Amino acid sequence: MSIHTFLKGSEDWWRQAVVYQIYPRSFADSNSDGIGDLKGIISRVPYLKSLGIDAVWLSPFYPSALADGGYDVDDYRNVDPRIGTLKDFDKMIDALHAEGIRVFVDIVPNHSSDQHVWFQAALNAGPGSPERDRYIFRNGKGEHGAIRPSELVSHFGPTAWTRVTEPDGSLGQWYLHLFAKEQPDFNWDNPEVREDFIHTLRFWSNRGVDGFRIDVAHALVKDLSEPLFERQSYDVSVMKDDGTDKLFDRDEVHKIYRSWRKVFNEYDPPRVAVAEAWVPANRRPAYASKDGLGQAFNFDLLGTPWNAKKFRKTIDYNLVEAIKAGSSTTWVFSNHDVIRHATRFGLPAGFDWVRWYQSQGTDPKPNNILGLARAKAATMLILALPGSTYLYQGEELGLFEAPEIPSDQMQDPQWFRNPGKAGSRDGCRVPLPWAIEGKSFGFGKKGSHLPQPTWFGDLSVEAQDSNPDSTLSLYREALALRKQLQTEESLTWVDHFFNRKVVHFKRQNGWHSITNFGDMAIKLPAGDVLLSSAPVVGRWLPANATAWVQTATV
Ligand code: NOJ
Ligand code: CA
Repeated sequence: MSIHTFLKGSEDWWRQAVVYQIYPRSFADSNSDGIGDLKGIISRVPYLKSLGIDAVWLSPFYPSALADGGYDVDDYRNVDPRIGTLKDFDKMIDALHAEGIRVFVDIVPNHSSDQHVWFQAALNAGPGSPERDRYIFRNGKGEHGAIRPSELVSHFGPTAWTRVTEPDGSLGQWYLHLFAKEQPDFNWDNPEVREDFIHTLRFWSNRGVDGFRIDVAHALVKDLSEPLFERQSYDVSVMKDDGTDKLFDRDEVHKIYRSWRKVFNEYDPPRVAVAEAWVPANRRPAYASKDGLGQAFNFDLLGTPWNAKKFRKTIDYNLVEAIKAGSSTTWVFSNHDVIRHATRFGLPAGFDWVRWYQSQGTDPKPNNILGLARAKAATMLILALPGSTYLYQGEELGLFEAPEIPSDQMQDPQWFRNPGKAGSRDGCRVPLPWAIEGKSFGFGKKGSHLPQPTWFGDLSVEAQDSNPDSTLSLYREALALRKQLQTEESLTWVDHFFNRKVVHFKRQNGWHSITNFGDMAIKLPAGDVLLSSAPVVGRWLPANATAWVQTATV
């Protein structure tokens, strides 16, 4: 018998699950070295249980030089010694499973780190070797190969090509990296690469992992025939939407995921996966198909301004698209790559996030009261929708973005690769405040690897835990109610013909969710007010708020 615990139960557990994203380095630090770790997560299992989530997703915890917060993986089948050991991982899974919480891990298949043994072997083996064939090496142009193979830019800017020094000490070939130079892209035409990832999926599945989040799932297969394709922007709107784009979302990528699906289905219950694929919306169902990864992130609400009509359109579209794939959609407002939504909703629509970061969050200044009110309302709205919901650590505390990190303490490669011209993702990755006071607000006993702002303590778990009016209490109540009320995956819209600034829908059991996007209070329909993101007085729901109302079912 395996030493690992496995959670059985319905094969469909993921369809309407609430998944809580843990950014391991910033969650809880058990040994006070300033870096969050697996033992820290274990110590907080009671907290996770108290939230009422169904699963956690761990961002990478693998050995890494942290050139991109761990998305530069040195070894896919191990734990970073600063974060723990495989034994700790097993204990963590056991502790979570014992509370009925499932576990997703992050798989980063587009690129490894430059410290990965395969990349080091590729550097040592020289041009034309089988070792180099696992990555994407090209000769440079010009007489001495000194001109990069193409003008392709990296997603983190500037160029996507870096020149290597050959084993004999001469300047040599160039390798492709769509992200930082420490993240060389794999060559997915190479069978060894394909086999190695199957091995990795089995490795974690055998340890009891329930699901996988697949990083840049749309990038693995590329057409790198000459002349090489040039792309200066990674915006989805410039991508071809018929499977023939040279860099992203090529039809051939699904062959890989079909082979992964076979592996997932070897397990009971089958392992699940969710694709991080920034593709045109019409292309998402392919990733979410039953013979593919099974589910694909829908990030559309991340870019939707606070507008009732736009919210409803986005929701409708995604519910229909997910059904086409036989899947369920995912809702998400915050993650480790974007400005926390309590801040975003307090900034003017279309604000320039680069300028905002460059000004350390002062230009323009967010309206935090408005931002938090809208964030709570928006979260209650998505928690009432069919499909699964992804929550990002700290949003249950109503944490704001923390952009006031001194420039020399920023860690995001985007910040360094474009000095003075880029935004950063560090402000949403600052270690969590657990306590009102203390050196790192209870994250550990000493410091934290990214500096925490002074206002963090006021939003800590300790400050909110027993306050029934706190954001934390709202999340707990909402999750508990959702668990009770969640039914089939469908909804009925309720129109408010005289007020277009309302998004109102009901589920089959008389569970209504009503969000007021306008400036004036609105009258709630008859029924029990189960929960509201702001106080309801005399059945009036204030502006920027959501209420759940239960009517009798017929
Ligand atoms: C998406 C991840 O969410 C992000 O953090 C990372 O920088 C890129 N993929 C590259 O792995
Ligand atoms: Ca630690």
